[in-house]
Amino acid sequence: MGFLMSEESGVDYGPLAGLIGTWAGEEGLDVAPEPEGTEVSPYRDSICFEAVGDVTNADSQTLAAVRYQQVVRRSANDEIFHDECGYWLWDAREGVVMHSLLIPRGVGLLAGGRYAGKTDADGRVVLEVAAGVDNPEWGIIQSPFMEKNARTLGFEHRIAVGSGRLSYSETTWVDIYGKVFRHTDRNELRLVE
Ligand code: HEM
Repeated sequence: MGFLMSEESGVDYGPLAGLIGTWAGEEGLDVAPEPEGTEVSPYRDSICFEAVGDVTNADSQTLAAVRYQQVVRRSANDEIFHDECGYWLWDAREGVVMHSLLIPRGVGLLAGGRYAGKTDADGRVVLEVAAGVDNPEWGIIQSPFMEKNARTLGFEHRIAVGSGRLSYSETTWVDIYGKVFRHTDRNELRLVE
């Protein structure tokens, strides 16, 4: 059985360490499905990542955990049009990063990927995770309604973080309105606190 420890020094957050803090960005772009085609929405969002501590599973696996909350507003009218929460987890022994997320549509997932020291041209840490409905390791769970009418088939997420900047791009494949729609989101955020 695992247990949570309060935040303390000495926890190895590995490639997740740079996420911790509050971030905001104004240059977001969402491409989302509509019955008649595609809706493109510029947006602003903020993401708050908090160090949780570490967790032990089955007396043998240790995961460092970072909790986050993301709030996304349409630039045109400031309306919140996406809300998301979850955890990023780091398994130092296996070099595995996990990203769990829940959105208030009745959809959740656990995406995973390996981290082996990858950085971008600016020297920022690059985190890449993916999940899929048919993936036996990193899965997606959704309500009966969503299974039937707007089924999420796959998810990919890439974050580059460092030097006070965080860029992400994510793709969600949704089977909706008779086709598979490539729903995408991206933004670049700055560390605000
Ligand atoms: C910044 C992130 C995101 C934004 C701004 C966003 C925004 C939107 C918008 C505007 C729609 C069109 C329907 C509506 O107007 O409500 C939509 C649909 C949808 N989104 Fe997202 N989304 C984001 C991330 C995600 C993620 C991470 C997932 C799941 C892994 C997801 C799953 C879906 C699904 C299943 C639909 C289809 C439901 C429908 O259109 O009726 N979205 N999203």
